[in-house]
Amino acid sequence: MKLRIDPERCQGHGRCYDLAPGVFTADDEGYGQVIGDGTVPQDQEHPARLAVSNCPERAIDPL
Ligand code: F3S
Repeated sequence: MKLRIDPERCQGHGRCYDLAPGVFTADDEGYGQVIGDGTVPQDQEHPARLAVSNCPERAIDPL
């Protein structure tokens, strides 16, 4: 699984990096960013899916 965050939709709610800190991080202003190229390690798939379904802006998309 590979994910991206749409910077147009992300409003910095921070649920992605709270729920899946192995997959997402925050930029200097608190907007979410994928770590690396967005490839989700196998042991991070569950938290990654939680993050996708908990983003209030639906800003996290599969690649
Ligand atoms: Fe942005 Fe959604 Fe994360 S709004 S900071 S991608 S929870």
